[in-house]
Amino acid sequence: MSIARVTVLITALSVTGAAPAPPPFVVTYLRALGFVSSDRPGGVAGGSSLVTPSVLRLAQEELGLSPTGVLDAVTLDMFSQQRCGVSPTWLAAPSPPGRTRRFALMGSRWRPAVLTYKVSVYSLTVPKATVDRTLSTVLDHFSSSTKLKFAAAVPGDTEWNLDIRFTGDDHGCSSVFDATVLAHAFPPEFGGDLHVRDAVDFNTTSLTYVLGHELAHSLGVHHSNRADALMYPVYRDVDPLSPLLSGDDLRALQLLYGQA
Ligand SMILES: *[C@@H]1O[C@H](CO)[C@@H](O)[C@H](O)[C@H]1NC(C)=O
Repeated sequence: MSIARVTVLITALSVTGAAPAPPPFVVTYLRALGFVSSDRPGGVAGGSSLVTPSVLRLAQEELGLSPTGVLDAVTLDMFSQQRCGVSPTWLAAPSPPGRTRRFALMGSRWRPAVLTYKVSVYSLTVPKATVDRTLSTVLDHFSSSTKLKFAAAVPGDTEWNLDIRFTGDDHGCSSVFDATVLAHAFPPEFGGDLHVRDAVDFNTTSLTYVLGHELAHSLGVHHSNRADALMYPVYRDVDPLSPLLSGDDLRALQLLYGQA
């Protein structure tokens, strides 16, 4: 259903006061991100009754939208964008109190002075050299602004801290990648693995952004509702020459790992 059609439908129904059934992709989106329980029976059709104004307000807040609880055209458009698959309801530690902060932390951090990493499964489409070069650029952004240091695992190593793999949609995680998901990652206390959806047609710009975003999750940073932050949940095209980490991202990372 097109957005224009949905708008017409909402307008028509608001006159009679009845709420329209949400499009199925909205139910899938809210379920996948944990805003509505995926344990409830009824599939997508049964799930539409769970899409209440309070659920919509939470989903709008995650994206920094005005929390109206109404499925308006802007909200529908944002729900259909490519984004990170990490659930906002998962492990969210409260943001530190005090001044207005938009970032959140996941509740754990790494202790080793040097974190080792390895791409254990490469992409079937992006060349290995591109992946290696992009990853190294991303790691430089993090190590130049915090006390973090990274080292590639060497042949023979059987363990490393950050495991990066390009995966199929159904890849052994409880959350299967759907068409709008680019990647997801686990916080330090769950091992810090990064899973990048290999079905995505990445270029260097989008891969830099996605690896950077997921790496921050692997380091313990949760989503930010600031649209200019790398940790904003929805993908946006950025100028490859602009700094990868915004002030908001840096505050979160430096709180965990100190300033360089
Ligand atoms: C890179 O991919 C993104 C996301 O698909 C796209 O929006 C952007 O236009 C692409 N950039 C280039 C330079 O091809």
